Amino acid sequence: MPLPTLYVSRLLTDPVMTAIRTRFTLLSEPTPQAPSHDSLIDGLREAEAAIVTLTETITGDVLRTCRRLKVLANHAVGFNNIDLAAAKAAGIVVTNTPDVLTEATADLTWALLLAVARRVTEGHRLVQDDRWTGWEPTQLLGADVAGRTLGIVGMGRIGQAVARRAAGFAMPVLYASRHEVPFPSATQAWTRASLDELLDRSDFVSLHVPLTPDTHHLIGRTAFEAMRQTAIFLNTSRGPVVDEAALAEALQHGLIAGAGLDVYEQEPRIHPSLLGLPQVVTLPHLGSATQATRDRMGFMCVDNVSAVLEGRPVAHRVA
Ligand code: GLV
Repeated sequence: MPLPTLYVSRLLTDPVMTAIRTRFTLLSEPTPQAPSHDSLIDGLREAEAAIVTLTETITGDVLRTCRRLKVLANHAVGFNNIDLAAAKAAGIVVTNTPDVLTEATADLTWALLLAVARRVTEGHRLVQDDRWTGWEPTQLLGADVAGRTLGIVGMGRIGQAVARRAAGFAMPVLYASRHEVPFPSATQAWTRASLDELLDRSDFVSLHVPLTPDTHHLIGRTAFEAMRQTAIFLNTSRGPVVDEAALAEALQHGLIAGAGLDVYEQEPRIHPSLLGLPQVVTLPHLGSATQATRDRMGFMCVDNVSAVLEGRPVAHRVA
């Protein structure tokens, strides 16, 4: 039996690529970089199955021409890059990679929180640039973390994982969510609040909502005006949930104290005013970027593809 044909838009980790090569015929050799628009379209049109990443925008116009494609496995938990309605109409199953990246993304959110609060990157640069002339009582003073209030906007899997970590810092947690979320343990409580109340009362505001038409620019000028001037804002969800120009203005005018960002409105471009601000820490979309997490994500994509092609139940189907 010939192996099914698979298009993979990016080179995935070695163990995942090895598994792929034993189970599928690869239509082209992926590289770590984004494919050209034409090679993406050619791959999706020729293959029976495809694994794509969050940076590949897959529109209805493209999906309607993919006559052979049975499954599109998105190598991400978010799936705002794919026109789900068009996939459904074309009979193409779409899957994602939930759960396996929750803890890694929550860890990275905390890395940003601590880095901004304690001015880690400024201190690192001072030492690395050989500008440090010695300890000073007023050098690089940051913000306390322990005991301060953490506001979580979007209390899904990742929001809850970020909130759980707050127990170790004795931080009260406020969350804004469509649903009430039960406490994780007898030793930690969190409080549901309206978005307005959360913005007003939180020392740290961390975003964990998916990007949908409803959440596009959820955080803009009005939200920044509602935050404390000492607040630190964190985004490890999706860039377009934030009006990036409004964020740059809020930081420049001192509406908020700092920001830790992993995602941007038009990746890899970043609003120029966010570059060079000392109170901003910018990462290149690293939320799920650990070796083990990327292995798990890749294997989950492979399993999702195989389940669809073999007619088995698909665990992570989103359309
Ligand atoms: C990463 O951004 C993801 O959605 O998995």
